[in-house]
Amino acid sequence: MANGETRFFIGQLLNKPGSTGALLPSSGRLAARMIENARIQPDSVVAEYGPGTGAFTGPILRELKPGQRFFAIEVNENFAGELEKRFPDLHVHRCCASGVADCCRREGVDRVDRVVSGLPWAIFPDDLRDRILDAMLEVMPDGGVFVTFAYLHALLLPAARRFRRALGSRFSRVESSKPVWLNLPPALVYRCVK
Ligand SMILES: C[S@@+](CC[C@H](N)C(=O)[O-])C[C@H]1O[C@@H](n2cnc3c(N)ncnc32)[C@H](O)[C@@H]1O
Repeated sequence: MANGETRFFIGQLLNKPGSTGALLPSSGRLAARMIENARIQPDSVVAEYGPGTGAFTGPILRELKPGQRFFAIEVNENFAGELEKRFPDLHVHRCCASGVADCCRREGVDRVDRVVSGLPWAIFPDDLRDRILDAMLEVMPDGGVFVTFAYLHALLLPAARRFRRALGSRFSRVESSKPVWLNLPPALVYRCVK
């Protein structure tokens, strides 16, 4: 991650702490673990939630093959603008991830098979968390996969435990990866199958 991007990310954290929710962008190692767990298929429609400065976006774009569709949903206008400069072909929807059904309509797709999320779940109020998860399930077919990460040091905090329970009550399978130590702070990946 270039220094300029890190500075920009920290600027957004100071500007919008209630939606940025992390001190630094995710590492390349965490991005690789997220994408490997998403297991994108040849005809997948992929959505990224909360791309920020694009820590996962670049690796996803490099992974995509013709026939796969991809769009991003980012609530922070400043992040969205920078992303569009960095990835001119990327479709960035400037809205809350709970509006994914509208994004699908605008994209002309009827489902999302893979969601790669960088959203700061642990700082969301429960009702926002639930709205975003439920809206995702509305557009995701059975067998669809949702991947997200959680910081190891915070796993026992009440909000993180509530998030894990919210996943368990909605998805038919939830798997946790081994820790990704090369991330600040270290994290694990949840792979959730509808
Ligand atoms: C922790 S940062 C992660 C950024 C990037 N994915 C990474 O891992 O470095 C959280 C991102 O989620 C975005 N975000 C927060 N709430 C959101 C919401 N309700 N809908 C869409 N994006 C949201 C923030 O603006 C920010 O870009």
